[in-house]
Amino acid sequence: MRVLLVAPPGAGKGTQGTLIAAHFDIPHIATGDLLREHVARQTELGRAVQEHLDRGELVPDDIVLNMVRDAFVEAKAAGGGYVLDGIPRNMAQARATYGVARDLDLPANVALYLKADDEELLRRLLARAKLQRRSDDNEETIRRRLELYHEVTHPIVSWYGQRGILVSVDAMRPAEQVGREILTALEVLRPMVDLVPEEARRPIDLTSLAAAFGETTSTARMSD
Ligand code: AP5
Repeated sequence: MRVLLVAPPGAGKGTQGTLIAAHFDIPHIATGDLLREHVARQTELGRAVQEHLDRGELVPDDIVLNMVRDAFVEAKAAGGGYVLDGIPRNMAQARATYGVARDLDLPANVALYLKADDEELLRRLLARAKLQRRSDDNEETIRRRLELYHEVTHPIVSWYGQRGILVSVDAMRPAEQVGREILTALEVLRPMVDLVPEEARRPIDLTSLAAAFGETTSTARMSD
């Protein structure tokens, strides 16, 4: 299974990426974690990107694309599956990531979009700030990360819809519930992803499933 996650900060890319990786026994490639490791080790790359991370700005595309190229090569050697978390973040990264993956015969089977509203995301990240020390978990920087998400990342969601690999999930519910729904959807899709070509597939929208089954969630302000 080859899954990429597109979602705003705090929607659960790391949480659900870890779950999917464990479930399918595939590598979890998280660009934010890789960058923070460099910062923690104060490598040359870490020193070059630290300010970007601290301010909630995107690091230059070539840096993250090089990281992902290396991680894809390792994923291929490990069996060919992966969960990609944190990239792509803009249209240029989406096209470049697709190109690299296609060259290695590893294009994503599923683009998982975790949908949640900004107020909830701010609440989650401020709550995390009280427990963990992340230089970008303060209100001003969180707002900047959300702004950038809406400006340059969210537009790529529709590109995956056009490609037929988009699965949208309501991420406003408790993490366990979101995770269960994701694993169920991926298990259903697993037998067909390699058999049904992208152009013959249609986007799958699970975001109104909860309401259909009588669950109440505050989805009123979620962006489309
Ligand atoms: P990155 O590490 O990717 O951060 P992010 O996108 O801001 O996302 P977060 O890690 O904050 O949230 P998440 O969606 O992973 O949610 P999580 O599961 O952690 O990137 C950091 C920085 O690196 C970027 O700002 C940029 O500078 C740089 N960068 C990275 N990739 C880049 C790229 N491709 N190009 C350029 N720059 C790049 O959950 C968050 C919290 O919410 C946790 O406390 C969790 O327990 C909780 N939570 C999760 N799910 C739920 C739930 N359903 N209900 C309640 N709480 C929940």
